[in-house]
Amino acid sequence: MEEGASPAHRVMFPLSVFKTKKEAKIPLAMVALSDAPSAQIACDAGLDAILVGDSLGNTALGFDSTIPVTMDMMAHHVAAVVRGVKSSSRPDVPIVADMPFGSYATVERGVENAVRLMQLGAHAVKVEGAEHQERLVDDYIWKGNLLLEVLRQTGVPVMGHIGFTPQSQMVLGRVVQGKTVADASNLLEQARLLQQSGCFAVVLEAMTAQVAHKITEKLLVPTIGIGAGNGCDGQVLVWHDLVGISGKTLKMAKAYAHTRQIWTDALRDYQRDVEEKVFPAEDNSWLMAPEEFRTFDELTERGWVEDDFDNSDPFADE
Ligand code: KIV
Repeated sequence: MEEGASPAHRVMFPLSVFKTKKEAKIPLAMVALSDAPSAQIACDAGLDAILVGDSLGNTALGFDSTIPVTMDMMAHHVAAVVRGVKSSSRPDVPIVADMPFGSYATVERGVENAVRLMQLGAHAVKVEGAEHQERLVDDYIWKGNLLLEVLRQTGVPVMGHIGFTPQSQMVLGRVVQGKTVADASNLLEQARLLQQSGCFAVVLEAMTAQVAHKITEKLLVPTIGIGAGNGCDGQVLVWHDLVGISGKTLKMAKAYAHTRQIWTDALRDYQRDVEEKVFPAEDNSWLMAPEEFRTFDELTERGWVEDDFDNSDPFADE
């Protein structure tokens, strides 16, 4: 900080936690979630970073893949998560927003959509895959990543995502990556390309643990694993898996609580209390002062209220 500068002048840089934790060799914990109260809880609980992942298509919206997720859906959830983080005890927790299927199919569309998510309060965006717009330049293939270059120039920090990339599942299938030497070398090459294109971190999803570890050793930027073993610089878990909402646990996830049962029990208790008229109890209700009610009761019993009001059917003539 400049001499004499007050804390109010300090520029907050929420993404710096990715670099500082990698340098300190302290694993980073990130959670993918999509609503304000969950974001607030995650920040209050001390999580390092939040991803508004397009997995919200499966977890919150009931789709069976991330492919139907649109920019409008992402924008709606990013704005909610931003509000949740801001209302927490740690309003500077970094928020990374997923770019949904097709939203970065061209550089122009990618920049426009990334800018939209950043203007809603995300600190960075995440894109799947490493090769965006490779081009033939003077008879050779330019291996750079034009999309990432332009996003960087625009001021949009980007998190990469390789391995199993759900948006390409119709092309790749649902397969664990990095089982052969050729595949492993390709993943390492993709990770290097993302780093070279300016990504501040790279998600490694559903790949063999040895390959993820090797990539982590070779990169200067942090790797965040999901289904990639514990040799990564950090981990990301989807909220619904972490708190056990779906009731089934994927191999690559861990339910740290089984809240589906807690929610189910609460809802059954509520149904029973309503049926048995246990809820709402007096504590949940407001009462008139007894003398006011006595007068009101007498008047209504004498028919005064009915006579004073026009009780005719307002829709009678229609
Ligand atoms: O959408 C998501 O939640 C993700 C994580 C699984 C990395 O992309």
